[in-house]
Amino acid sequence: MNKIVIAIDGYSSCGKSTMAKQLAKKLNYIFIDSGAMYRAIALYFLNNNVNLADNNSVAAALNNIHLNFVYNEVEGKSDILLNNENVETAIREMRVSEYVSVVAAIEEVRTFAVAQQQQMGISKGIVMDGRDIGTTVFPNAELKIFVTADINTRVERRLKELHDKGNTAISFEEVKQNLISRDHIDSTRAISPLRQAEDAVLLDNTHLTREEQLNIVLNWVNERSSN
Ligand code: DC
Repeated sequence: MNKIVIAIDGYSSCGKSTMAKQLAKKLNYIFIDSGAMYRAIALYFLNNNVNLADNNSVAAALNNIHLNFVYNEVEGKSDILLNNENVETAIREMRVSEYVSVVAAIEEVRTFAVAQQQQMGISKGIVMDGRDIGTTVFPNAELKIFVTADINTRVERRLKELHDKGNTAISFEEVKQNLISRDHIDSTRAISPLRQAEDAVLLDNTHLTREEQLNIVLNWVNERSSN
C-alpha cells in the first residue's frame, strides 16, 4: 500500500491526538501532534515574559526556540523537546492551555511552526493533527479528516485526562470555558483559522468508541492508499 499523508483537524479535546496515535501505530506511520509545538512555543514565551505585542521580541524569541520530538516507548508516541528539555508534561498545564491560542494566532509563530511541519511530511507516511493541517500545512494530503464531538463529551474527556495526570483541582465549568474560548479564538483568527477543508471527511465521534472510530478511519485510509 502507498504511504500517504493523513491530516486531522478539529476542535479542542475531541480526540484527534488519540485517533492519530492509534492510526500511526496501526499503519506504522509517524505521528506528529502539531498542537504540542504551539504549546511548547507558548511555554517558552510565558517563561521568558515575551511581549506578544512586540514583533521584534516575538521574532527574537523564535530564534532561540528549537523543537524536536523524541519517541516515548511507554506512551507509544513522541514527546516534545523544547531546547532539548522534555516539556511534554509542562505544556499540558492549564496556564499553557489558557495562553496557547493567543500565541498560535501570531503570524510569525505560525510561519515558524508550519515550515517545520511541512518538512516532516516530505517522505509521507505521517499522521498530523491540529487545526490547519488539511487547509494550510498539507493542502494536498490524500486523506483529510475533520473531527468534532458534543461540547460536554469533550469536557468529560479532557477532565478525565487531567484527573489521570493527577490534576483534580479543576472543575467541569473551568474546562468547558477554556475549550469554548480556545475554539472561538482558533476559529476566528485571521491566519489559518480552524475550518473544515472542502475535501475533508467529517467525523462526529460523540457516540463512537475508539475502536469504532479507528475502523471507520482505517477504511478511509485503505480507499485513499490504493488510489
Ligand atoms: O491540539 P491542542 O489543544 O494541543 O492545541 C493547542 C493550541 O494550539 C490550540 O488552542 C490551537 C493551536 N493550534 C493551532 O493553531 N494549529 C495547529 N495546527 C495546532 C494547534
